[in-house]
Amino acid sequence: MLSLKDTPGLQLQTWHRNLGPIIRLNMGVQHWVIINDPTIAHELFSRNGIKTSDRQKHKFTYDMYSKGGRGIPFNKTSKKWKNARNIAISILSPKYVESFTKVLDTIIDKAIKQLEDETEKNGSVSPMHSLKVVTFSAMLRSLLGGSAKFIASETLDDIIKTTEVMFTYSGPEGDIDSFVPQLAWINKRSKHREEAEAIINHRDSLYKRLIQDALEGDQDCLLKHIYSLRDEYELDETDLLVMTSDLISAGGDPTALSLAWLFAILSQNPGVQMKMQSEIDSFVARNGRTPGFSDREELPYTISVLLENIRFRSVTNFGVPHLTTQDVEFLGFFIPKDTVVISSMHAMHMNENVYENADKFIPDRFSGSRKTWSISSNGSFEERDMYAFGWGRRICPGIHFAEVETFSVCVRTLARCNIEPIIGLDGKPEYVDLDSILPAGLNFSPKEYKVKFIKRG
Ligand code: HEM
Repeated sequence: MLSLKDTPGLQLQTWHRNLGPIIRLNMGVQHWVIINDPTIAHELFSRNGIKTSDRQKHKFTYDMYSKGGRGIPFNKTSKKWKNARNIAISILSPKYVESFTKVLDTIIDKAIKQLEDETEKNGSVSPMHSLKVVTFSAMLRSLLGGSAKFIASETLDDIIKTTEVMFTYSGPEGDIDSFVPQLAWINKRSKHREEAEAIINHRDSLYKRLIQDALEGDQDCLLKHIYSLRDEYELDETDLLVMTSDLISAGGDPTALSLAWLFAILSQNPGVQMKMQSEIDSFVARNGRTPGFSDREELPYTISVLLENIRFRSVTNFGVPHLTTQDVEFLGFFIPKDTVVISSMHAMHMNENVYENADKFIPDRFSGSRKTWSISSNGSFEERDMYAFGWGRRICPGIHFAEVETFSVCVRTLARCNIEPIIGLDGKPEYVDLDSILPAGLNFSPKEYKVKFIKRG
């Protein structure tokens, strides 16, 4: 268990290389089965999804964060989960996201301007916080409507920080009690537990305030719509609080991390940037406007780069672990009931049997791909390009929202500026270390880095 270290994604990749596509780990009293082969993962999570879509009772994510069975990502496969997930799917639908693009573009343009201004003032800028401001503001605006415009920047920073801390506690190390029940009495009084409880109390008061302001405001918003459905879906105030926290956290953090990887990668690949910019520029010359998501088919190289980005650095170490509710027999394997089953996300995307030269950033490997991420991830297994959004009944309901945000941030940024590395004292470029990963619980995040956003002439 301890050998998973701070960055489980990298450790699992090494184990898969040495041991093969399916590994069993003894995590104290729990058994984990970890997979880095998409065909095996598809058989297990999608074809046997009815037996493999539950979640474990992780001390932090289930007992504390989800208050023992509320919300979506960490909830068991209960009626409450199904109802909350159905609401999420309906509000994250392409039709809704389409109606939101103008607001999104305004949020993005403001952030790009800040990145340009800070580069001009200080010579370089760390883009991570600005990217989080974009993705969290987008989720807040989409859920809380106009009232989110008046959220103070300190409150937004508080929401971002609270989410980062919660993600950190969501990794295996946040669940020592379930691995080693004999230690539960020690953990009950540990500083780690006190801090975890404090962050949840803080989350609760922060979100209660946000929800109350949105519901009392005179602007129409999705949250009011969700509240109007609560009797029909048998959800109480606590369910709605956890669900709001789910949508803002799951909707805000991973997309920003994916964009942070993208900017780090682009800063050291000027040729890739120029090719994308030439696609964007010729669209602008033909149409007199910056391309939006509905124009994506006219930017085939950009589609390939964004796919390769999410393959190359896939944002989560292993998605969110699933749990078997029955024994499963498939492809000659036997996995007993109550086993934690995991898609080894980073190792799967680095699997040489699936992607040739997997450790190289090669957008052209996706040159024929045109399907949206949502269609490809939810369509036939054979046509799936990548696996970053998980599997089967638990597949991420925010894929379309994430793709629209990623596309819009990337295209609007490259239309206005070049992303360049900083220059060291020796006059040479200092590239971001793409192998340096921040220990961040469930997430697979780049460490803070600085680059330059230079206005194009
Ligand atoms: C690049 C961005 C994103 C990535 C890589 C990502 C990835 C994932 C993964 C791997 C899972 C677990 C799937 C499984 O258990 O098999 C998940 C679940 C989830 N995601 Fe995302 N996600 C992203 C963006 C979003 C956005 C924008 C939202 C919008 C609110 C969202 C909402 C959720 C929710 C609610 C779940 C829980 C689903 C369930 O357990 O039924 N995600 N995501």
